[in-house]
Amino acid sequence: MTLSATFATAEEMGEFGRDLGRGLRPGDLLVLTGPLGAGKTTLTRGIGAGLGVRGPVQSPTFVIARTHPNLGDGPPLIHVDAYRLGEAALVDDLDLDVARSVVVVEWGAGLVEELSDSRLEIVIERPTGASEARGEADGEEAGDDELDADEPRTVTVRGIGPRWAGTLYAVSA
Ligand SMILES: Nc1ncnc2c1ncn2[C@@H]1O[C@H](COP(=O)(O)OP(=O)(O)OP(=O)(O)O)[C@@H](O)[C@H]1O
Ligand SMILES: [Mg+2]
Repeated sequence: MTLSATFATAEEMGEFGRDLGRGLRPGDLLVLTGPLGAGKTTLTRGIGAGLGVRGPVQSPTFVIARTHPNLGDGPPLIHVDAYRLGEAALVDDLDLDVARSVVVVEWGAGLVEELSDSRLEIVIERPTGASEARGEADGEEAGDDELDADEPRTVTVRGIGPRWAGTLYAVSA
């Protein structure tokens, strides 16, 4: 089965991340896909809260990977923004301690799968027409306020590999 849900606000997205984060373990790899402003970092912030790591989890603008140490006994969160990471080869150069960490990679699809035998693929979408229907029709650029405004997002989670077998997210390959 593939899990799919819609979250109306950024806060709901964060809560989903928190619930997800509470169940994650060292070695878990999460690959986040969705257009600019989809909510990948917002989700990652929630995951960080659920894991209990030190914040702030934010868009890694100048660094490709940032490690957030755990404030308790759990694993650290490694937050990767692969947007500018053109080739899968470079992923190895980052030398990530995957086995001892929870690794969340924005824009990682097609680049980081080899890091683990298992992964959660999380796709975030705006339900059809939600954003495009507003403002831009007048030829206006969407301002920051508009990008931040709450608007539903659909999240689909597919668990691939042995780690997720038998869980809610398992996908029969
Ligand atoms: N339902 C929602 N879920 C998540 N974010 C939402 C939602 N509604 C509105 N937002 C807003 O959308 C923006 C999402 O930004 P965020 O940085 O998380 O996206 P991103 O996918 O990481 O973008 P980028 O590709 O630039 O890294 C935030 O400003 C957030 O407040
Ligand atoms: Mg982001």
